Amino acid sequence: MALLEILEFPDPRLRTVAKPIDKVDAILLKLIDDMLETMYAAPGIGLAATQINVHKRLLVMDVTEEKNTPMSFINPEIEIIDAELGEFSEGCLSVPGFFEIVNRPRSIRVKSLDRNGKEKIQELEGLGAICLQHEVDHLNGKLFVDYISPLKRGLIRKKLQKAQRQRT
Ligand code: NI
Repeated sequence: MALLEILEFPDPRLRTVAKPIDKVDAILLKLIDDMLETMYAAPGIGLAATQINVHKRLLVMDVTEEKNTPMSFINPEIEIIDAELGEFSEGCLSVPGFFEIVNRPRSIRVKSLDRNGKEKIQELEGLGAICLQHEVDHLNGKLFVDYISPLKRGLIRKKLQKAQRQRT
């Protein structure tokens, strides 16, 4: 397995809209395993392929406290079950060190392909529902900072750019 580099805001590549996956093969399964390893090592609870500069509709997550339930979603499609909004302080491996309140539907149904290429349908609520929506946003080129005020987003951008300059 391998650790992958995670793109950071405001990298324009994070704005790419990912393309559907047409084949679940060994290369894709290896990518899923590498993404899971990268997510656990970061550490994070979710990672979308967009964040590692692979523009395919794929994401991984594990929202358990024990970190023993890796999940992957290929070509995820969300349907909202309960439109009532929940409030959650979100962070992101591509926006390291920043947390902001975002409102999202509390309960969703997600259709995707499993590791065998078979269709699966899952219902998620709470943190799982929040995380999945956050990751699907990545596949559409969207970040959680898009939900906050332009002023706050600008401050975060400046601070991250400064940190990125100091690293290179
Ligand atoms: Ni994220």
